Amino acid sequence: MDLKLAGQTAVIFGGASGIGAAIAAGFAAEGCGVRGFDVHGDEGRGIVAGDVTDYAAVRAFAEGCGEVDHVVFCVGVGSGKFGFPFWNLEPGDWARVLEINLIGAVNVAHAFAPKLIERGGGSMLFLVSVAGQMGSQTDPPYSAAKAGLINFTHCAAKDLAPYGVRVNALSPGMVRTNLNEAVWAASQARVAEGERVPYAVWAEEKIRKVSPLGRWQTVEEYAAMACYLASEHARNITGQTLNVDGGQVMHS
Ligand SMILES: NC(=O)c1ccc[n+]([C@@H]2O[C@H](COP(=O)([O-])OP(=O)(O)OC[C@H]3O[C@@H](n4cnc5c(N)ncnc54)[C@H](O)[C@@H]3O)[C@@H](O)[C@H]2O)c1
Repeated sequence: MDLKLAGQTAVIFGGASGIGAAIAAGFAAEGCGVRGFDVHGDEGRGIVAGDVTDYAAVRAFAEGCGEVDHVVFCVGVGSGKFGFPFWNLEPGDWARVLEINLIGAVNVAHAFAPKLIERGGGSMLFLVSVAGQMGSQTDPPYSAAKAGLINFTHCAAKDLAPYGVRVNALSPGMVRTNLNEAVWAASQARVAEGERVPYAVWAEEKIRKVSPLGRWQTVEEYAAMACYLASEHARNITGQTLNVDGGQVMHS
């Protein structure tokens, strides 16, 4: 399928590793110019160092980007603690998680909406999570931030539709990345030393429990979906949460 993205520009937030890095590579493989912004900047890969919670930095980056066709927000962090129940966290653990996962995305939307409105088209895509759709107890502030981002996706999709700009959310389930491993690390911190299990064992057990298809998702699957959603083939898809999660979340 020819996605006809060649010559367009995609901006990836959180593209230094994991799913974001794969999405950046996916757009580049389609012939797009790719710009990046991540706390872990990398000049060689065209990734500017910056924090999405710093609105002035995000705006300055947007101003320096020139014309932009697609914006993808792949930033994500957990609290570093494990729920079950929520009072295993402190209320003070919430603010930074909401600030990065939710307000960071809002900063990006504010900084880039004027460019896409002026262009009269293009797309925004926010990486969310199954956790934001089911009140996952694993990391309550992370779940709440993703639920908020799904809701904001609907809002932004309605506001930008008259300008031909589409806004969607892409929802992973279980993908081997730093973030996924950090969830395991947080869970093991609560277990007595002799009872701790390696990441691979913990993850396989969790996947068997939560995923009808019973297998890992790969970063390349999100790159494929992100490029498809940016393309004209997806011109009637907006305000949607696309679950690429082995069937973990199912909607009618
Ligand atoms: N891996 C999974 O199983 C999984 C499951 C559900 C949802 N997700 C979501 O997918 C997206 C990608 O996550 P990933 O698994 O590739 O994790 P990752 O840790 O590999 O990537 C996250 C990226 O965000 C960057 N980042 C973190 N804080 C930042 C900040 N304040 N400002 C700018 N950049 C910042 C990191 O440097 C990193 O490059 C996230 O939104 C995450 O919540 C992942």
